[in-house]
Amino acid sequence: MMQGALDTAGPFAQHIAGLFWTFVAVTAVVYLVVMGFLIHALRRRSRAAAGEAPADTAKSLRVIGGAVIATAVVLVGLALSDFFAGRALARPPADAMRVQITAHQWWWEIEYPDANPSLRIRTANELHIPVGKPVALELISDDVIHSFWVPSLNGKRDLIPGYANSLALQASRPGVYQGKCAEFCGLQHAQMNVTVHAEDPQRFATWQASQRRPAPDPADAVAARGRDIFMNSTCAQCHAVQGTDAGATLGPDLTHVASRSTLAAGALPNNPQAMASWIRNPPAIKPGTRMPASQLSGDELAAVVTWLGSLR
Ligand code: CUA
Repeated sequence: MMQGALDTAGPFAQHIAGLFWTFVAVTAVVYLVVMGFLIHALRRRSRAAAGEAPADTAKSLRVIGGAVIATAVVLVGLALSDFFAGRALARPPADAMRVQITAHQWWWEIEYPDANPSLRIRTANELHIPVGKPVALELISDDVIHSFWVPSLNGKRDLIPGYANSLALQASRPGVYQGKCAEFCGLQHAQMNVTVHAEDPQRFATWQASQRRPAPDPADAVAARGRDIFMNSTCAQCHAVQGTDAGATLGPDLTHVASRSTLAAGALPNNPQAMASWIRNPPAIKPGTRMPASQLSGDELAAVVTWLGSLR
């Protein structure tokens, strides 16, 4: 489904859309008034050419003076509405839920901090938020400048290496809101998607509880073999799966990878076939990706895919 900045789903996006429509309305009126004066002036010139009375200079000066004042008032008015909209966007509410987003070439690391480490959640590319609650995003980058943009919820904000930026989000109705990286960041800039899943608080709490759990033990021999292959191959050098020995943070946390709807930052749907082709040769799907092609045999790959598919 197409989404845009004028299809608003929350108060921050509404400020931006309101500002847009204010500018459109005011500039449309200005355009019509200017065109009206232009038509009037052209008609009068043709009447003057036909020998009618010459223009009244004092009256013309009054009209020009009035137009200058009206222009100043309109410009100041637009600047003020821009200022107040900007101020409303710049203040994440004090009671906002905190989420840290780290941009990587080319995926989004999402972390829900908690004073208690066992309650922290780490996921990727799919941000879950409760409807009606403000969320304060802390935005940083691991490599180059990226930009986080979910048009239905707020404007863009850059993620800059070595500098923490912030952005507030709030959804007023449940839904899945599409977002993009909005700053050219290399080969796969176009395949750096993010989705915001706005859920009613009950559903969000269920999601939160399930994400806090470590990975379950493999349910059968194939999944167990898949886990062992994962731990003893290059997979575990980049990825973490909570509850196992894999704790690397170079790539996305895979503890609940099967609960996500896409793979590779939205480049693929999340199903066993797509997972297998991604692991077999990621650069064939996203040229430039840091994840190398795998050396696994066909049945080793199938076992790993089975185990990953069980990580809900
Ligand atoms: Cu990240 Cu463009």
